[in-house]
Amino acid sequence: MTSPTMSVAVVGCGIGRQHIEEGYLPNADKFRVLAICDIDAGKRDAVADALGIPRRVAHFADLLAMEDIDVIDICTPPQLHREQILAALAVGKHVVCEKPLVGSLQQIDEVIAAESRATGKLMPVFQYRFGNGAEQAKRIIDSGVAGRPYVATAETFWTRRADYYAVPWRGRWATELGGMLMGHAIHIHDLLLHLMGPAAALFGRTATRVNPIEVEDCFSASVQLECGALAALSGTLGSQEEFSRLRLAFEHVTFESDQTPYAPGVKPWRIVPASSEIARQIDSLLSGWPDVAPGYQTQFARFHAAVAQGAALPVTSADARRSLELATAFYHSAEAGIDVRLPIGPEHPRYRSWVPARFQTA
Ligand SMILES: NC(=O)c1ccc[n+]([C@@H]2O[C@H](COP(=O)([O-])OP(=O)(O)OC[C@H]3O[C@@H](n4cnc5c(N)ncnc54)[C@H](O)[C@@H]3O)[C@@H](O)[C@H]2O)c1
Repeated sequence: MTSPTMSVAVVGCGIGRQHIEEGYLPNADKFRVLAICDIDAGKRDAVADALGIPRRVAHFADLLAMEDIDVIDICTPPQLHREQILAALAVGKHVVCEKPLVGSLQQIDEVIAAESRATGKLMPVFQYRFGNGAEQAKRIIDSGVAGRPYVATAETFWTRRADYYAVPWRGRWATELGGMLMGHAIHIHDLLLHLMGPAAALFGRTATRVNPIEVEDCFSASVQLECGALAALSGTLGSQEEFSRLRLAFEHVTFESDQTPYAPGVKPWRIVPASSEIARQIDSLLSGWPDVAPGYQTQFARFHAAVAQGAALPVTSADARRSLELATAFYHSAEAGIDVRLPIGPEHPRYRSWVPARFQTA
């Protein structure tokens, strides 16, 4: 039986355009984008004209009132996500939302509680997880063939200059909700935790060295994972060449991701087995591997299947919480100069806000 097509409204015409082009249009048997919303009429019209979207509105409330919309896909600046997620769940819509999902652990717990009461589902976007490279590594690790995890490095070396920060919401705690950790490296850090499991402790340092902005654009950290393995995280927005790279050393296999900066999960990864027997086991695990389309295309197709079957979503609000918890630990460690233990619950001083004290407004 084919599942019904879901009607989608997208709010925010920056990355929202890529969600439509790379996520919904290639899944035309599963989704049709009926409406687009943006406060900027020029961007709204350009996307709607180019991609043939029938309805275009300026006000988010107009999307909420459309009874035939099943999914609202939120691609607005980060400070708007919480309010828009809660409003969409409250009227029974499914929600897809860009990162960072919200602005604190308190807010994500509020959103998770709202989701548990709602008829709609909430799927955060973490598209790096989808594609051949990351998914083959995940299969090998989950099968046990890779053995005990030892150590990982996660590098995010990107370039962002004045033109990027000319957009007023970027570079400020109140609107971007964080810096490089929140807006850029959040993807590869999610992928690391997806493959090796949650963090148990973190000592991090942040710095603003590349651009004249409030938030950090360089960082490094030493992490202990719950499984006992260690990880080193580093990133800058001042690299002369852009790459994202994950390297994972396990007892029987070493993995190195592709380095494509915005899609390191997609192309085949370097997989180095310890012996010909491990190589044989990997060949057997990957035999008949179906090509997995990258990024949004597969994440959104699996969202459709999960909703249709009442199954677990491919990325959950709990996954988003884990990524925000890591960032909370990072900011707290960097400000206080201490090793921070995870998990972080309501009793933690940074549960309500990870924003450094000197940038907090009353
Ligand atoms: N997953 C990824 O790889 C990825 C890549 C880029 C951006 N993002 C995330 O997507 C979000 C948007 O980023 P962007 O780079 O597309 O930003 P952007 O500024 O390019 O686009 C945001 C759009 O939202 C519109 N907007 C602002 N307020 C609005 C409102 N109240 N109602 C309707 N529209 C409104 C703006 O006019 C603008 O067109 C951010 O959370 C960002 O972190 C994710």
